[in-house]
Amino acid sequence: MEKKTIVINYFQSKITELSEEAMNLVLEAQESIKTAYSPYSQFSVGSALLLDNGEYVRGSNQENAAYPSGLCGERVALFAWGANNSENKVVAIAISAKNQKGEFAKAYPCGACLQVMVETEIRTKEKLKIIVQINDQEVQVFNGVECLMPFSFSL
Ligand code: THU
Repeated sequence: MEKKTIVINYFQSKITELSEEAMNLVLEAQESIKTAYSPYSQFSVGSALLLDNGEYVRGSNQENAAYPSGLCGERVALFAWGANNSENKVVAIAISAKNQKGEFAKAYPCGACLQVMVETEIRTKEKLKIIVQINDQEVQVFNGVECLMPFSFSL
């Protein structure tokens, strides 16, 4: 048996030091937090997609009393894109979240959202940049879903 190693490169930056394009996308994700419906977890997630025509698609987590019926903020945005804007490619997604105390809290995309992002990359034939806000001042930037889910399922 041979040991194999994967190296993941990612970037960490102050939000204020991002490119204007990336910073605006993070601000969109922060704004989207306000539309979260999260009475059960009290954890509110906002997401925003940047399309190649400069448009944004927003999402936020939407919960339900029948818990598994709810959906994460990332997939709300990605499925809204599929239903409304898929003629334009998604180039980036930003994710911001606030906890019960109203403080920024990091929310890496869950496995199901990553799998949907993988399919988005397959559809657009482009790598998806993932920007995760990790506290009130900083983000981590991942260039491609592969960075967060190196082994993903595809048919
Ligand atoms: N959630 C998201 O919307 N995105 C993530 O990346 C992780 C978790 C949601 C699901 C649920 O509504 C709440 O956060 C707590 O798990």
